Amino acid sequence: MEKVAVIGIGLTKFGELWESSFSQLFVEAGTKAIEDAGIDGKDIDAIFVGNMSGGRFIEQEHISSLIADYAGLTPLPSTRVEAACASGGLAIRHGIMGILSGFYDIVVVGGVEKMTDVLTERTTQILATAAEQEWEANLGMTFPGLYAMMARRHMHKYGTTREQLAMVSVKNHRNAVHNPYAQFRFEISVDKVLNSPMVADPLRLLDCSPISDGAACIILASKEKAKEFVDNPIYIIGSGQASSSISLHGREKLTVMDSTVNAAREAYKRAKIEPKQIKVAEVHDCFTIAEILAIEGLGFFKVGEGGKATEEGETEIGGKVSVNTSGGLKAKGHPVGATGVAQAVEITLQLRGEAEKRQVDADFGLSHNVGGSGGTAVVHIFSK
Ligand code: COA
Repeated sequence: MEKVAVIGIGLTKFGELWESSFSQLFVEAGTKAIEDAGIDGKDIDAIFVGNMSGGRFIEQEHISSLIADYAGLTPLPSTRVEAACASGGLAIRHGIMGILSGFYDIVVVGGVEKMTDVLTERTTQILATAAEQEWEANLGMTFPGLYAMMARRHMHKYGTTREQLAMVSVKNHRNAVHNPYAQFRFEISVDKVLNSPMVADPLRLLDCSPISDGAACIILASKEKAKEFVDNPIYIIGSGQASSSISLHGREKLTVMDSTVNAAREAYKRAKIEPKQIKVAEVHDCFTIAEILAIEGLGFFKVGEGGKATEEGETEIGGKVSVNTSGGLKAKGHPVGATGVAQAVEITLQLRGEAEKRQVDADFGLSHNVGGSGGTAVVHIFSK
């Protein structure tokens, strides 16, 4: 596909942000991205915003024009994109399509979620609206429960160990120490994960991404327009999206996330590169098993070998492929609508050479964003 440039990035801190409203979060990330790109309002053609559930978390729908209004960007067209936890990644894809269709030259793509204004029980119910109601959520199934079943099956079929799952979390917490925007900036040990409170057997508290507030924003431009504003843009050279059964019982296998496999196939084909060329990746580790499924589904490791690769340090910074250098969803935080855009911010930082103590030597990077238990997956490939 034609490449599209990332010319600006912005992020809020992730965490429990009591002092900031939903709109303030978006405006903070958006202002940083606009300043980073060196553009102003008159240069922008459209806004796309990823948001999973403003209506339930903060009783606010009609997010699209709310955002345009608070950002001072009316009367620009503004569109909300929703695909559960993949809303941000999907908003990026719609921004890309807006540019490649020739409709727009410069678009703002944001993602935002405010999850901590309700209690955990309510958050769990809201998140479970992204699972199938009839066969899963109404029967009491939660996202930790769904991913726990995938973990059990992977352990049974491939011998993936409890310790290997914990090592995903240990690595991502270690990376987050060097990310000033991360929610949890402290190291943990395998023992600490194994002794943390049980959430859904075999997944414990320290196998789970947290409940977070936050926003992220990127500015996309056509490759011609990008040159007017920045010297060295980062390019998105591949995009892939795939759907699968929203419920686990509709899937052929619990151990392979077919939406990831199919989205990755499209993205690699459009980018004309192979998995082995990717040296840095932000993948959707909402639970530790999710990172194992991701690094297998994206083709970095053979199916069944993700746990072993993690144990052998192949996904550490400087390993075969550095995975979740930001700290991932696990330690950076997971404000669901913002996550996919925040992943693009991290890959852009990496390819610009601005990731400081978590810097990786890479020409290509990848972001992977999943909705629900795998009903949607979106993959983007970036290059210098
Ligand atoms: N990882 C590490 N620490 C966590 C944590 C996490 N995921 N979640 C909470 N904590 C910490 C808190 O900071 C707090 O620490 P403190 O006592 O030192 O202040 C402590 O654990 C208790 O926090 P609390 O907010 O009471 O936890 P909780 O029981 O309300 O929530 C989970 C814990 C696991 C239920 C919640 O984080 C969760 O639901 N995560 C999954 C979110 C999800 O499903 N996202 C969508 C994926 S598809």
